[in-house]
Amino acid sequence: MNKQVVLSGIRPTGFLHLGNYFGALRNYIKMQEEFDCYFFVANWHSLTTHPDTKELKQSVYRVIAENIACGLDYKKATLFVQSDVPAIAELYLYLNMMAYKGELEKTTTFKDKVRQQPENVNAGLLTYPVLQTADILIHRATLVPVGKDQEQHLEMARNFAERFNYRYGETFPLPKAFNYGNELIKILSLDGNGKMSKSENQLATLYLADEDDAIRKKIMRAKTDSGPTEPNTQKPDYITNLFTLLQLVSTTDTVEKFETDYNNCVIRYGDMKKQLAEDMVAFITPIREKAAELQANETLMKEIIQLGAEKANKNAQKTLQIVRDAIGLNYF
Ligand code: TYM
Repeated sequence: MNKQVVLSGIRPTGFLHLGNYFGALRNYIKMQEEFDCYFFVANWHSLTTHPDTKELKQSVYRVIAENIACGLDYKKATLFVQSDVPAIAELYLYLNMMAYKGELEKTTTFKDKVRQQPENVNAGLLTYPVLQTADILIHRATLVPVGKDQEQHLEMARNFAERFNYRYGETFPLPKAFNYGNELIKILSLDGNGKMSKSENQLATLYLADEDDAIRKKIMRAKTDSGPTEPNTQKPDYITNLFTLLQLVSTTDTVEKFETDYNNCVIRYGDMKKQLAEDMVAFITPIREKAAELQANETLMKEIIQLGAEKANKNAQKTLQIVRDAIGLNYF
């Protein structure tokens, strides 16, 4: 039986952080053992918000290096850069004929960007979910490991795929958002204000490139409160977030100790943060060092990116042929 196809991407708009790790990378590493995987750097998408390309190449290299440093094996999975696969742009063009202005304008991420960059509400921003759909469908992927913030884009991708199939005949399997834990994940910023993100609120974001002292400082400043006063109280979301991070990097015994302390109303957040900080340093340090070493090896980076481009183009061309036949764009 053919393996299911997995696809996911990350924009090179800044340093990767623990939200990216939890929502996406952690699943990539597991999925590469079971599925036919395609992971990529969404550099076209980044142009919708970051038109200045001075640092783009370094950012693309860094995302590739950080993917590998987290455990991605570029020989098992296909790891590529979006702009190396022109077939995506052609499929984007066809899908744009099936995406309506009204629905695109209603997309949450579009409305957010209109607020954030009123001076640059470009058409690429409006059709962002269409390009994302093309990324997924060009590899006929069915599983898309992403965080909670991408849920709406994935629903739109299913709709566009269904519309294409209805209009031109069964062509694409329907993709869905995926997380091993079922529920999609959202890691909050350490100050409890919104999600952890690459470019906002850097002092409350834990980056995979952070130095040990920065990690300690950020965690010690994380939002807490005076603790529960009634046994077994439901945790506020910023406390749940700290426990989620603890589960990622600390031992089961440590997590259980602080869970019990919380439920018995004797938790000392200062102690919990100190433990979390040390365990986080131990988790991030090898990733940071490995990523820096890879990124500095330009010859290797180029080899990896070229290999990914070859593998991704081969598969994308196959889909494009099916798509052209389905639409009837074959004249000789
Ligand atoms: P991007 O670059 O914003 O984020 C990359 C991945 O990290 C996840 N993520 C989070 N998960 C949990 N908590 C957070 N705080 C958090 N922040 C980010 C995102 O959900 C994502 O999985 N549109 C996509 C890139 C993209 C894509 C695609 C993804 C382009 N084409 C096709 C999947 C399939 C984006 O902006 O991700």
